[in-house]
Amino acid sequence: MNFSASSVWEDADRESAAVISVFEDDPFALPIDIPQAAALREAGVFRGKAETCYFIPGVHDGAGALLLGLGEREAATAETLRRAGGQAAAVLRTNRVRRIALFTDGLGAIPPAAFVEGVTLGQYAYTRYKAETPDGPPVNVETAALVGASGDTEAAACAGAWRVCANANWARDLANTPGGDLRPAQLVAAAQGMAEETGLACEVLDEAQLTEKGMGALTSVAQGSEEAPWLVCLEHKHAAARETLCLVGKGITFDTGGVNLKPGDGMWDMKHDMCGAAAVLGAIRAIAQEDIPVNVAAVIPIAENMPSGSASRPGDIVRAYNGKTIEVRNTDAEGRLILADALAYAAERFAPDHMVDIATLTGAAVVALGHFGAPVMASADPLFHQLEGAAAATGERIWRLPAWEDYNKLIEGVHSDLCNIGPRGEAGTIVAGMFLKHFTGAVASWSHIDIAGMAWNVKHIPYWNAGDATGFGVRLLAEWAAARGRRGA
Ligand code: BES
Ligand code: MN
Ligand code: ZN
Repeated sequence: MNFSASSVWEDADRESAAVISVFEDDPFALPIDIPQAAALREAGVFRGKAETCYFIPGVHDGAGALLLGLGEREAATAETLRRAGGQAAAVLRTNRVRRIALFTDGLGAIPPAAFVEGVTLGQYAYTRYKAETPDGPPVNVETAALVGASGDTEAAACAGAWRVCANANWARDLANTPGGDLRPAQLVAAAQGMAEETGLACEVLDEAQLTEKGMGALTSVAQGSEEAPWLVCLEHKHAAARETLCLVGKGITFDTGGVNLKPGDGMWDMKHDMCGAAAVLGAIRAIAQEDIPVNVAAVIPIAENMPSGSASRPGDIVRAYNGKTIEVRNTDAEGRLILADALAYAAERFAPDHMVDIATLTGAAVVALGHFGAPVMASADPLFHQLEGAAAATGERIWRLPAWEDYNKLIEGVHSDLCNIGPRGEAGTIVAGMFLKHFTGAVASWSHIDIAGMAWNVKHIPYWNAGDATGFGVRLLAEWAAARGRRGA
């Protein structure tokens, strides 16, 4: 999307529309004359309620006007406008609007960039396998003019917000790709291709190297598949960096559960089990594009979890990179196995100041918070607060769970150091996080984000309705890194 600033609405035509915010408790003080508006309000058709909008065609030189409901002025936040953008996305598309004039003076303290985020995420569509309709490809908003007093700074902020969302949408394309067309080698190739495009250093460890290094947890997960496991490391470096951040993302390209086979219903959803990897890739892509002044390493373990004659058996004991042994009581708890090696390797190799992993790790995360926010574990309060700040800024909500030492009793091994599952139905998300903590080595500031509920299927947040993968984590992690950069530089 291209952005410009202007003090008046110019170039109105059939493919453009004015976007005008309306607060429920404000009189209809519209910046342009829309004769129908008062009648709509009186008839109760549109009153400015949050998460409603109304399109009026042909108000000015063929251009339409989109009235955006933002609810009560006092209660409205950036998230209100982001959601309005999500609703507007579909309406603008239906009306084939390519150019918008976003009137900003009425918004007060709410940043117009939030609207851009809502529209950009909301207009995402996964079209790779779709035949083109007679109407052509879906129509997206291509340019936005910010009409108001402080247009120039707003246009720059909007462009930045748009670029980050474009990276989230890039990650959504990866995540939506069927497991058969995004197998481990293809996810590796996608990471390599992206690294080349963005100038990131990229190192790929193959199965022989993983075995040689002693990553027995990661290799055990892949052993039932015809596809080998991989570990991809990407690095963004900046001369002014004062700290190193490490992002670790679960990259299971398809999770059948392995010998502990999942039930058939909905198993297709497990093509999304690489959404943590996609989030990390999208985030470091954004970080590189913006040249954020921090060092960031992305570490991505990649495998396919399949049942076969060569698959690992429940009860097998594997040895992880840090030497700890793990009894694989359930082959479906594979995410924590591949992350164990990735975390231990990342901690040693990059010695980061802060390390964050993100993974579609437990169904229990959906039980805990539904599709409304991601449970988080953290070994350090300051890191949690940093992430909380990024969550507030982006609308990608997180909620902290306790990491009481006592939970470790649930994953003590009998014949091994650790067991990969705890008792069924007991604090499943916490137990998975406690397990991971055993592999964080000397990194004192670590956090784990479980996106099982947020990576797809988020139906009640308008800007995530458009496609099934959300890209959750891209904006959160990119904003976290950007905030570290603002502090450091
Ligand atoms: N990828 C799944 C977690 C998942 C389930 C994400 C549903 C999104 C929706 C993970 O590998 C898994 O299978 N976890 C098990 C762990 C259990 C065996 C301890 C689960 O949550 O059932
Ligand atoms: Mn699983
Ligand atoms: Zn999984």
